[in-house]
Amino acid sequence: MRAIILAGGTGSRLYPLTSIVCKQLQAVYDKPMIYYPLTVLVAGGIREFCIISTPDDLPRFERLLGNGSQWGLSFVYREQARPEGIAQAFLIAEDFIAGENCVLMLGDNIFFGGDAFPRALKDFKSGAMIFAYHVQNPGNYGVVSFDQFGRANSLEEKPTHPRSSYAVPGIYIYDSQVVGIAKSLNHSPRGELEVTDVNRVYLERDELLVRRLSRGVAWLDAGTSSALQDASAYVQTIERRQGVKIGCPEEAALVRGFLKLEQFDALLARMPACEYRDYLASVAAEVRRLAYATPKNF
Ligand code: TTP
Repeated sequence: MRAIILAGGTGSRLYPLTSIVCKQLQAVYDKPMIYYPLTVLVAGGIREFCIISTPDDLPRFERLLGNGSQWGLSFVYREQARPEGIAQAFLIAEDFIAGENCVLMLGDNIFFGGDAFPRALKDFKSGAMIFAYHVQNPGNYGVVSFDQFGRANSLEEKPTHPRSSYAVPGIYIYDSQVVGIAKSLNHSPRGELEVTDVNRVYLERDELLVRRLSRGVAWLDAGTSSALQDASAYVQTIERRQGVKIGCPEEAALVRGFLKLEQFDALLARMPACEYRDYLASVAAEVRRLAYATPKNF
């Protein structure tokens, strides 16, 4: 499975923060926002990524993330000239998808808790799989409603009168049909190729699976200044309380076995002294301890 992280858009609700640097490079507590979705995907076993952003911001992502080899991953970069919708990602990344299954994740979606995504990525065979999350303000999102048997029966984009309280978060898994479906879409009245329209095609084909995320999962959206502040406060609270970090791609790559301990050590040696490095050093020490305590290598 390959992954696309879509990290363009206008970020207008975060003005003036976004007049120089895009939303997905802003800090969420102690790391750039894109680290959070990236970590979810690495923890789910994905190694190959296509990062899509605006012509202005793409070089900044390249500077931050490189070609991914330092983390045992691979990153390619593609421009989205104008923000013409989430589903445009499949047209931009058609060569990267190369007829495989893929997962699309929005670069401003922050999740914490549970193992819904690693399980979903492992279970996925064909069709489409999306998620549903109970929110107070469903009208700000794509909304999915369910029939009496719990099967999805409608999808609406930012409805004025939502039929349910279930929003569709920004992580979507598709088989190779997605590129053809994206090509067949018309622009919506707001001038975008809508991911909700892609999902609706799968729903009509009876090939859409919607998994409800439990209330134990936190899904935070960092689209406005107060939501960004809430997300930072949430991450800080959990990290302080638990002594673990949320959204560390290096840690996920190590735990997944994409990075060997020696490579991890070399990575730390190149980092300046900071809390982030201290944390990663503690992760490495624990992984070493476990490796020595058990006959198998971690
Ligand atoms: P939005 O939050 O809907 O839009 P935005 O980020 O441009 O912000 P604002 O409404 O404040 O102007 O987008 C959701 C995510 O999808 C976000 O990470 C940006 C990304 N996106 C793109 O990369 N390209 C696009 O064409 C669109 C519509 C969104």
